[in-house]
Amino acid sequence: MRLVKLIANLGYASQKEVRRMIRDGRLTLADGTVLTQETSAAHQDIRLDGEPLDPPAGLVLMLNKPVGYTCSTSDPGRIVYELLPERFLQRSPVVAPVGRLDRDSTGLLLLTDDGKLLHRITAPRSHVPKTYDVTLARPLDGGEAALFASGTLILRSETTPLAPARMEVLGPNSARITIVEGRYHQVKRMFAAAGNHVESLHRSAVGTLGLGGLDSGKWRFLSDAEIKDIFAS
Ligand code: URA
Repeated sequence: MRLVKLIANLGYASQKEVRRMIRDGRLTLADGTVLTQETSAAHQDIRLDGEPLDPPAGLVLMLNKPVGYTCSTSDPGRIVYELLPERFLQRSPVVAPVGRLDRDSTGLLLLTDDGKLLHRITAPRSHVPKTYDVTLARPLDGGEAALFASGTLILRSETTPLAPARMEVLGPNSARITIVEGRYHQVKRMFAAAGNHVESLHRSAVGTLGLGGLDSGKWRFLSDAEIKDIFAS
């Protein structure tokens, strides 16, 4: 890919601005050789202001989403992209959230510009397990685990039953639940169907991939091995 387009697609600047950056000598090789519009160089060898470039298309990252941010590119409130480098919102192909976490939910949010991977994770037939820790307004009544595991629970305004889900009691008002679907507000609606109310919801894992100590509001790229963990259960 031509240098101007490559840098513009990474979201650093418009094509016009990238041409100026090249004229100003800001794009170089690691040894300081200044690049021109015509030079072709491997992605990993290019430096912008002396810094390596962001990864090429095919990136996957995890964010520990705090409360108050929406999984949207344009929302009047705070959006998860504010927690990433600003240029990530300008990349082509776009970096998109893999499924959604509600504004008041926290925890593991994946983002990728790999449409096929996104589909593989979110497609209903993929059955990728997602694990949530919830705190509830009222104590558990003891019947929830069987109800969720039954495979017969039909949520309000739906016609097909939920796939069986696993629930583990963590305390009188708290539980860990693993679901393999991603229906709208699914976990909150499941506890509502059980006569309770979710007060806080934190996604701790997708597949066997967890946050691993990543602080709230922080993000990092995933390794290939970690991407495989998404599909492990
Ligand atoms: N289920 C919900 O109700 N909310 C989320 O954010 C994720 C799963």
